Amino acid sequence: MEIVRARGKKTELRRLASREGEDSVFPLVWYAVMWSKELVQHPIKRTVAGLDLILFRDQSGIVRCVDACCPHRGADLSLGRIEGGTLRCAYHGWAFDGEGHCERIPAHPARSIPEFANLLSYPIQEIAGLVWVYPQANGDVQPSSLEVFPELTDVRYVLAPYDAKWQAHFTRTVESVLDVAHLAFVHRKTIGKRLNPEIRSLDFEVKGRDRIQIKNGGGILDYIFPQQWLLRPDQGGKQGFINYVTFTPVNSHKTMIFGYAGRTFLRRVPFVTSMFSHYSLKILEEDRKVVESQRPRPIPKSMQMEAHVPADGPQVRFRQRWYQFLLSDEEKIVLRSRS
Ligand code: FES
Ligand SMILES: [Fe+2]
Repeated sequence: MEIVRARGKKTELRRLASREGEDSVFPLVWYAVMWSKELVQHPIKRTVAGLDLILFRDQSGIVRCVDACCPHRGADLSLGRIEGGTLRCAYHGWAFDGEGHCERIPAHPARSIPEFANLLSYPIQEIAGLVWVYPQANGDVQPSSLEVFPELTDVRYVLAPYDAKWQAHFTRTVESVLDVAHLAFVHRKTIGKRLNPEIRSLDFEVKGRDRIQIKNGGGILDYIFPQQWLLRPDQGGKQGFINYVTFTPVNSHKTMIFGYAGRTFLRRVPFVTSMFSHYSLKILEEDRKVVESQRPRPIPKSMQMEAHVPADGPQVRFRQRWYQFLLSDEEKIVLRSRS
């Protein structure tokens, strides 16, 4: 097996690699932030790329998203409550509509409301049982479209949800699902139990700028840059089974993961749904420990700072795409705060 060696002095490269890489820039795309069913009566706070956001449902049940910090005295609006579809701050009761406009200042009901009392609002949509946020204030840019895998909206599939929060950088988290060689080791007691660790040849294809497809055994794994991944294991028959994950950067050292194990069989057996959720989380937990241990936390700043072998092909492609993203004029979110 050929090993692609880093150029330059090894000690110097190690020293460079141990420094934090570029950790605070993320693609500006739609990110999943919670399950739709979680959002009922109370405002909920989520952080996406350092941006603290509040999500709530307005009077028509439409999900709304605004900044989490009250423009009056900076109170956390997730401490507030929803009244008549508006978000009311817990401190002095200012009320905001779904577009972030301040509708009422109780201390001065007869005075006009100043412009600076308004909050920024953010594009939002509910697809496949998930609430997705586009972390750029409404009016600033036109959101790109969100393409999800067809199985997620296919009524024949029952989707067993699972989620996790890792203390890991977004890039390392994404790479973990493009990695075939880890299966026989990290998952040696579960999905990798009978796998041969030798990767004789890895069949993967780069489709356009943003897609990677890996054929592993009889299974097909599809990745859409930057945040979505779907595994269609070898099925051989008519019954369908898929595993899906989507990643959301919380900040430079945390990533949220939302997943579905979907099936077209035993559709009416709730026990099977909870079993799939539980098992998928167990597999994810096996990955978590290793990925959280990786240093530097983000992938290194350049390709030569880690050693690559042919089995790392899809990850190398991901890195190429990531570096291209960092250097290009594609829309970016630069992390504003650490939490
Ligand atoms: S801090 Fe929110 S109303 Fe005063
Ligand atoms: Fe894994």
